Amino acid sequence: SVRERVVSGVQPTGSIHLGNYLGAIKNWVALQDTYETLFIVVDDHATTQPYDPQQLRKATRDTAALYLACGVDISKSSVFVQSHVPAHMELMWLLSSSTPIGWLQKMTQFKEKSRKEGAENAAVSLFTYPVLMASDILLYQAEYVPVGEDQKQHLELTRDLAQRVNHLYGGRKWKKLGGRGGSLFKIPEPLIPPVGARVMSLTDGLSKMSKSAPSDQSRINLLDSKDLIADKIKRCKTDSFAGLEFDNAERPECNNLLSVYQIVSGKTKEEVMEECKDMSWGTFKPLLADALIEHLSPVQVRYQEITAETGYLDKVLSEGADRATEIAVPTVRNLRQAMGF
Ligand code: ADP
Ligand code: NA
Repeated sequence: SVRERVVSGVQPTGSIHLGNYLGAIKNWVALQDTYETLFIVVDDHATTQPYDPQQLRKATRDTAALYLACGVDISKSSVFVQSHVPAHMELMWLLSSSTPIGWLQKMTQFKEKSRKEGAENAAVSLFTYPVLMASDILLYQAEYVPVGEDQKQHLELTRDLAQRVNHLYGGRKWKKLGGRGGSLFKIPEPLIPPVGARVMSLTDGLSKMSKSAPSDQSRINLLDSKDLIADKIKRCKTDSFAGLEFDNAERPECNNLLSVYQIVSGKTKEEVMEECKDMSWGTFKPLLADALIEHLSPVQVRYQEITAETGYLDKVLSEGADRATEIAVPTVRNLRQAMGF
């Protein structure tokens, strides 16, 4: 029997940070025993904003190595690079023809990201990026997509698009053309974690932690040294309330840092409250820094091992791309047939 599939990915646009890890990658690891899991380094997405080709090449390999270092296990999961599987591009074009421009105009991420250069100067690919993301998911008939909160709207669009294509080309029409099976595409569900779905910047309490934020001080990168982690936590933005608490809308920084502590220490919310409610920032910050360092140290050790072994990563990525291609090619073939090619 075919296991239900889980697909997700990270863009190689910089170093993987704590938000990517707590919002997505950490949860991938928990899913690999139950599902067929495919984890993609979505390098084609990394070209949607100005970038350095040399950097892209390096970040693509680093991102893949970090997936493995975080606990993605190649005996349970396929890890590959998006551009190694050309079907992503092909499906994107086919899906583009079923995507109303109005759907893309509603995407808040496009509005935010295009603000920098001005919407008129933003690349067409930044605008159509959600269609490529839909392709990444629908290509593999994924049931579940573990992502952070910021991807919720793109997942909605993916679901709408799958339904629209199923309606336009699937079902009875497709059967008449000799097509087999049910609908053309599965309708995927997002898996958004209850804690860690939106890790905030360390320097302002309002924006999410992000690879593209100009200040490196605003994020913890998974490969930051112990000293750097301690320093970033020491200097991160806090408030002047007494004691510490979750879920106070006036204290976003406090909720953010306690949530991070909760996850990396492996404690429950109640345990964290019990331990920290009367603490000052001066007491809590070193505690948080130590918990982070302890959690990330084994990831960093494994990263060094993986990148030291010549040829290992290439082998992993080549096997991953082979498996991905096996699933992707029939998906595109079926859609083409249904669309009248
Ligand atoms: P970034 O915005 O840092 O470039 P990506 O767009 O590559 O990250 O997203 C990769 C994954 O990480 C997605 O599942 C996304 O939802 C998740 N993610 C990104 N930033 C955060 C954050 N600050 N908190 C939680 N999850 C996040
Ligand atoms: Na798996």
